[in-house]
Amino acid sequence: MEIEAYLDSLYGSDPDLERVLEDIRGRGMPEISVAPGYGRLLTLLVSLTRPRAVLEIGALGGYSGICLLRGMTADGTLTSLELREEYAAAARANVAAAGYGDRLESVVGDASDSLKRLAEEGRRFDFFFIDADKESYPHYLEQAIRLANPRAVIAADNTLLHGRTIDADKVGPSVLAMREFNRVIAQDARLTGVHLPSYDGLALAMVK
Ligand SMILES: C[S@@+](CC[C@H](N)C(=O)[O-])C[C@H]1O[C@@H](n2cnc3c(N)ncnc32)[C@H](O)[C@@H]1O
Repeated sequence: MEIEAYLDSLYGSDPDLERVLEDIRGRGMPEISVAPGYGRLLTLLVSLTRPRAVLEIGALGGYSGICLLRGMTADGTLTSLELREEYAAAARANVAAAGYGDRLESVVGDASDSLKRLAEEGRRFDFFFIDADKESYPHYLEQAIRLANPRAVIAADNTLLHGRTIDADKVGPSVLAMREFNRVIAQDARLTGVHLPSYDGLALAMVK
């Protein structure tokens, strides 16, 4: 934590992202946006891979959405799935305030239903950020692989569940799902995967 705080302190203020965090607090929403260092990593990865179509699962207040959109080229769009209409509305407002409102497709509802619909529509994506209900991570990963263009990148947050993932005494549904998700990232022949252990853990994979 001290190391992460030190490294985060090296970066200057970020008014757009600070406004999102303030808005989340003001609305009484959970303060569970992606960690600042991983937000910067998302921007960097998107800048490097230049995806046309990005899919985010779990919008909350738009923090990660802004990080993703920042790295994208002007013709790129972000499709952002969110269960709760009030959170999706906050994300839309914050993404618009950061100047990216016209590049956001906000989809409200259970992500499993939204992913099914996107598949039926024949949609394909170049970059995914999975950051919603943890029990569904293995399912979201399968759906992401199904919706992926070749060499698409998949990122997923909270792979360590604040230590619960590696605590043998923890056997709840989120923990079991996350262990399975992490195993697939590491071992599935369709993926080239890697796990980053900082903050609450981030997984990255490329679909071969
Ligand atoms: C950790 S927060 C997302 C944070 C966001 N990615 C960010 O970093 O700014 C998880 C979000 O997933 C949403 N969520 C939970 N279950 C969901 C589901 N079944 N379908 C879609 N969204 C869901 C929650 O409402 C919440 O907004």
